Amino acid sequence: MSPLPAGDLAGTDLDGVDLADPRLYGRGEPHAVWQALRDHRPVHWQPVAGRGGFWAVTRYADAEQVLTDHATFTSTRGVFLNMLGRDEPASDQQFAASDPPRHGRIRRPVQRELTVRAVARHTESLRADIVRLLAPALDGGTFDLTEVTGALPMAVLGPLLGIPAADWPRLARLVGMSVAEADPGFVLPEGVEATLRRAHRELFGYLLNLVQAHRREHRGDLVDVLAGTTVDGSPLSAGAVVANCYSLLLGASAAIPHVPNGALLELIRTGRYAAWADRPELLESGIEEALRWTAPARHFLRCATRDTRIGGVPVAAGDAVVVWIGAANRDERIFPDPHVFDLSRSPNRHLSFGDGQHYCVGAPIARLALRIFFTELFARFASFELTGEVEYVESNWLGGIKRMPVRATLR
Ligand code: HEM
Repeated sequence: MSPLPAGDLAGTDLDGVDLADPRLYGRGEPHAVWQALRDHRPVHWQPVAGRGGFWAVTRYADAEQVLTDHATFTSTRGVFLNMLGRDEPASDQQFAASDPPRHGRIRRPVQRELTVRAVARHTESLRADIVRLLAPALDGGTFDLTEVTGALPMAVLGPLLGIPAADWPRLARLVGMSVAEADPGFVLPEGVEATLRRAHRELFGYLLNLVQAHRREHRGDLVDVLAGTTVDGSPLSAGAVVANCYSLLLGASAAIPHVPNGALLELIRTGRYAAWADRPELLESGIEEALRWTAPARHFLRCATRDTRIGGVPVAAGDAVVVWIGAANRDERIFPDPHVFDLSRSPNRHLSFGDGQHYCVGAPIARLALRIFFTELFARFASFELTGEVEYVESNWLGGIKRMPVRATLR
């Protein structure tokens, strides 16, 4: 029997559920809701006040269908729920918001710099940054684990985009405002819309300066790669380069910390930290399970280009479709005992990095960073205990924990 960590199905009122409401996620992972949807309404119409609505897809097979059939489910209308009912300004400019063949023409040069082989050259500098991040935790006292892991993304992406370390904290905050705009830790007193606008304005302004600085002086990083990319004989505009840098920044900055946060929370709660930390042979399979378990990029949006069916349910051309990755990753049709964190799970074809043409371009460097992080963490800490309340991010996109006080025992 697989225990469900959150809530109890009997009390789940699917008609009252609002999957777009960030507050749903601020209460913890909504696995009871997702399980009820998978079982009873795997392709469920979710109305959204003033913005139409979307088909919520929660089963693995349906999620795969949507993510891999780019001809029927376009990314050009935006891939995040906060774009629902709006025009996507980055359409056909950003590879994340393009369809093949244009998608591949913009993505390929970036991808060449991010293959497993290409990212291996960052191993030692990344290790040095991660060791530095862990240092303040070495006094053995109580600390907030999310403050340590929160600095991981910029350690990954700063060097890839040539962003100086002094700017990392400011950018991390602006990214938080972009992806968790309703969270009380990020929302401005002027409201959610104003938070998004300010974050976009400041981030785009920052990235535009970065792109212009690269035009004066080439540094051999991803900004130069994008600036040198031509599509159908024309170079990408400065706006398109900025839009792609933004997408790289968002991908990296948002998701990475929530993999260790969520995995460690589960292992501490179930008393199994040592079962992983003391078994180096489980490092790789444990990381894949941590990815499946946490699914920090909660959803991706598509728009149907023609009348079609998902899981037998008719979907009309123009309808928005949202794949819930955390729900697909717990589908018992694919993963035996899906609510058990199984360090040696195999096979483990989770969808945390997506699937198909848009499969996460940053997956190799994300895996490298996680491998180094867990190796260095396990080498220093024999155990952890929780010392206070855990708080979850209020966001329908960013899945994760924003506060997790722990006490660590050093080796
Ligand atoms: C644990 C960390 C990460 C997770 C869970 C994650 C998740 C995902 C997912 C699910 C997609 C598919 C989007 C779609 O189908 O529309 C995606 C795409 C993408 N990710 Fe990641 N990502 C992570 C790390 C990164 C990093 C480190 C980078 C940058 C170096 C990055 C950059 C991107 C970009 C640019 C795309 C768009 C790819 C395309 O449309 O072809 N991500 N990511």
